Amino acid sequence: MAPPRTPPLFITLSLLCILSLIFFYLYSTSTIPPPPNFKTDFSQDRIKVYVSPLPRSLNYGLLQKYWALSSNTRIGSQVDNEIRKKISPKQSLKSLPFPENPIIKQYSAEYWILGDLLTPEHLKGDSFAKRVSDSREADVIFVPFFAALSAELQLVVDKGVFRKRVETNEDYVRQRMVIDSVKKTEAWRKSGGRDHVFVLTDPVAMWHVKDEIAPAILLVVDFGGWYRLDTKTSNGSSSDSMIHHTQVSLLKDVIVPYTHLLPRLHLFENRKRPTLLYFKGAKHRHRGGLIREKLWDLLIDEPGVIMEEGFPNATGKEQSIKGMRSSQFCLHPAGDTPTSCRLFDAVQSLCIPVIVSDNVELPFEGMVDYSEFSVFVAVSDALKPDWLVSHLRSYSRKQKDRFRRNMATVQPVFQYDNGHLGGVGPIPPGGAVNHIWRKVHQKLPLIREAITRERRKPQGVSVPLRCHCI
Ligand SMILES: *[C@@H]1O[C@H](CO)[C@@H](O)[C@H](O)[C@H]1NC(C)=O
Ligand SMILES: *[C@@H]1O[C@H](CO)[C@@H](O)[C@H](O)[C@H]1NC(C)=O
Repeated sequence: MAPPRTPPLFITLSLLCILSLIFFYLYSTSTIPPPPNFKTDFSQDRIKVYVSPLPRSLNYGLLQKYWALSSNTRIGSQVDNEIRKKISPKQSLKSLPFPENPIIKQYSAEYWILGDLLTPEHLKGDSFAKRVSDSREADVIFVPFFAALSAELQLVVDKGVFRKRVETNEDYVRQRMVIDSVKKTEAWRKSGGRDHVFVLTDPVAMWHVKDEIAPAILLVVDFGGWYRLDTKTSNGSSSDSMIHHTQVSLLKDVIVPYTHLLPRLHLFENRKRPTLLYFKGAKHRHRGGLIREKLWDLLIDEPGVIMEEGFPNATGKEQSIKGMRSSQFCLHPAGDTPTSCRLFDAVQSLCIPVIVSDNVELPFEGMVDYSEFSVFVAVSDALKPDWLVSHLRSYSRKQKDRFRRNMATVQPVFQYDNGHLGGVGPIPPGGAVNHIWRKVHQKLPLIREAITRERRKPQGVSVPLRCHCI
């Protein structure tokens, strides 16, 4: 375990090698114009996407089903019950809005990504994804299943069967339909599914077929649910050397943002922030979230700290807007999973995120540098009495202003909403959807390599999947 005191020769040599490569790169590109901005960058070398032909009932039809519910008593649904009254049963499928219930809305990535793909090419503007009509020309195959909505709808209609593989679990039936339909295709057979893209923002999305879609490119908010499944299948004896078929990986999968629920505060609108640290949410959480309870007890009586429990309704939203806009720092502890929508709300509110979640994964890393506008704190430090508050107080006003300026520049990166009904229309070029496709594009060489390797294996030979993680 202990690292050697002096770096071995080969490390020194490879460092030299990397350094000389960097110099070579800097030198050899010095005559080339500066790197293109987002806009021109996105228009070059677009990713070619084939949209798998699934029945409408698996995407927009689910919206129709959702809005046709007579009313919905699930927590947070008041806002949708109001919208429901205004929606006509004859409204065209592709002009239906995504639910506003915060519990569902945070997973709306699937709606905006598909909307962009279905936008006719001449209206597309700066979309990085180019739709192709032949799967053989495609870089990736997009599977247009609204997996989060399917799961959440089942939780509204009949929560009791959600975890069961039975015919009355409509979500399970839909998951099977999707899998059976894509697995029959020539494209899936050729790649083993490795070039297929699924949007799985909701940690319980496609729960029952996780092992079957594991080889594909998964767009997830974090790996929380998957690691938990691994621990379970390894019979409680979780060991780092054991890699299971449920393994997700930064090499092939893409971490995507939650959809933020609070409106953007622009830098010029920024006002005084009398509160040092703000947190709103449930005190009690399972698993990684146990830390919340401990932090809560440590911080609740600290001057300058506001910890409040909230409701997922209009009152709760107003409360969050006010809290996040009048605080310098916003606490982001692990919840049920390592990340949550709160982080993206903090960024939109220009409240400096304090991330206390040791194994958090964040979207667009390598494109966005979170350390330029967030504070990362080890769980063990955060749980020392008085440590966190005095650490936050040590940041100078200048540092905090710099963090907020940096944050303002990344606010648009986390935006999905393009302002068009059905999500169909031009998208903001530097927004979340384009960043997701750029990330997928970066992974293509590796995915192609994996497909070719797989293809050369003799028939009937099975080699366990291993993830050589970085
Ligand atoms: C898990 O552990 C239990 C008890 O140690 C054992 O009976 C069971 O067979 C194990 N299951 C698997 C899938 O290894
Ligand atoms: C939100 O929920 C809380 C608790 O149930 C309630 O007191 C409050 O009136 C609700 N607000 C709205 C706008 O419905």
